[in-house]
Amino acid sequence: MRPLQAHTVLHVEPPIFELGAAGRSGASLPEMDVPEIDPGQEFGVDVLRCEDPLLPEVSELEVIRHYTRLSQWNYSIDEGFYPLGSCTMKYNPRVNEWTARLQGLTDIHPYQNDDQIQGALELMWRLEHALAAVGGFARVTLQPAAGAHGEFTGLKVIRAALSARGERRRKVLVPDSAHGTNPASVAFNGFAPVLLASGEAGILRPQDVEQALEREGADQVAALMVTNPNTLGLFESHIAEIAKILHSAGAMLYMDGANLNAIMGKVRPADTGVDVMHYNLHKTFSTPHGGGGPGAGPVGVTEELARFLPVPVVERRNGRFVLDYDRPDSVGRVRSFMGNFGVLVRAYTYLREMGADGIARATELAVLNANYVRARIEKEYPAQYGGACLHEVVLSDHRIEKETSVTTLDVAKRLIDYGFHPPTIYFPLIVHGALMIEPTETEPLEEVERFCQAMEAIFVEAHEDPELLKHAPHSRGVNRMDEVRAARKPVLRWRPEASDS
Ligand SMILES: Cc1ncc(COP(=O)(O)O)c(C=O)c1O
Repeated sequence: MRPLQAHTVLHVEPPIFELGAAGRSGASLPEMDVPEIDPGQEFGVDVLRCEDPLLPEVSELEVIRHYTRLSQWNYSIDEGFYPLGSCTMKYNPRVNEWTARLQGLTDIHPYQNDDQIQGALELMWRLEHALAAVGGFARVTLQPAAGAHGEFTGLKVIRAALSARGERRRKVLVPDSAHGTNPASVAFNGFAPVLLASGEAGILRPQDVEQALEREGADQVAALMVTNPNTLGLFESHIAEIAKILHSAGAMLYMDGANLNAIMGKVRPADTGVDVMHYNLHKTFSTPHGGGGPGAGPVGVTEELARFLPVPVVERRNGRFVLDYDRPDSVGRVRSFMGNFGVLVRAYTYLREMGADGIARATELAVLNANYVRARIEKEYPAQYGGACLHEVVLSDHRIEKETSVTTLDVAKRLIDYGFHPPTIYFPLIVHGALMIEPTETEPLEEVERFCQAMEAIFVEAHEDPELLKHAPHSRGVNRMDEVRAARKPVLRWRPEASDS
């Protein structure tokens, strides 16, 4: 039963298994109108269950209320400022949802003939070319289902190209500020990640890349995987020189394009020497994300690498759009059908709505908002790497840690009481007590300013009443979580008897 409590904050919602009563159900099934069978005889007794499955026994109303209450606990970009660094939680215009729900796009099936799905194929063809124009690439595959999947696919293309050259290079250089998915994608492709330390300014230096090539063996290095702007929010200004160094050693340059929101419409990565790059459509090109998906991580490549892209690709032949599977050098499929089509529709809508000028303006505003935050609160929360940032600013707890007993985690939790989603914290690891703040271009100045005022107020509280911060948040249904316990003992599948262990 839900505990009866007078509350000023949100109530605690028990797991659905603790609601309802034995025998209660929300379903009404029609009378069986086919002959009953003996499942043991039909399928063999060894496949039969020994016990009834543990299912919630609740009425329809209880289910509806339970999930409605849970949804009200959620925080979303539609509710308020969501400066979760590295995630680009921008507002997603409703027109994207409208197009993604158009019947002509939702009621088709990927097994239909090309002739019957010309509109969907044209949309994919146009999206591919729009993304290629933004990145400066020859071709783009739309198949990968997320950024990490794009990384996996892009590196697979690099591996195939190296094999075609008769080379067996097995090392990929990855800067220490990289997103964790980068080394993981390297390893998934059978390469070994080699860590590169960022220079003092927080960006890669050409001499460090040269030294790494020398140390690891220039003929052993397949690629460098760099994020630009990197996860410190800084533009890798030596990227063109680094590309030349890699290319002259026979290695390639992979760019993690998840942070494209800081440069789209301003810099075309292929012009800086990038051979392969993935785009995070769910971040930069505006699809609701979080909680694990769905997303899309298209991969752009240069002319030289285009033949290795996954099959099928959409081609326009004699005014018709067709799926081309006849690509003998392709790395093969990386996902069923054409990827997350609904996300592709949203991204296409967004690009059409914004146009070339619009995306350049979005970049300018994203960078302006991040620098506004930096300039406003850098005194209280100093940045480890000085100077202007791009789309996100990474601040540190240097001052607050020295002057108070409060930590970055306490600051983040207290922000919830002020009505803001906390920023990303303790990432990148190379920044002490990192607070990674990405306001995005869709936030109005007043909201960014309110956030800065909250950060200032928290700084004062940290000095005057640190205990208040240590137990924050105070305004939500649950207070401070035992995060160590949650990480070490995840509840994989809730059972009543296991609920307390
Ligand atoms: C820099 C960077 N690379 C890669 C990824 C992975 O993208 P995804 O979560 O879509 O797999 C992210 C995600 O935020 C990112 O910020």
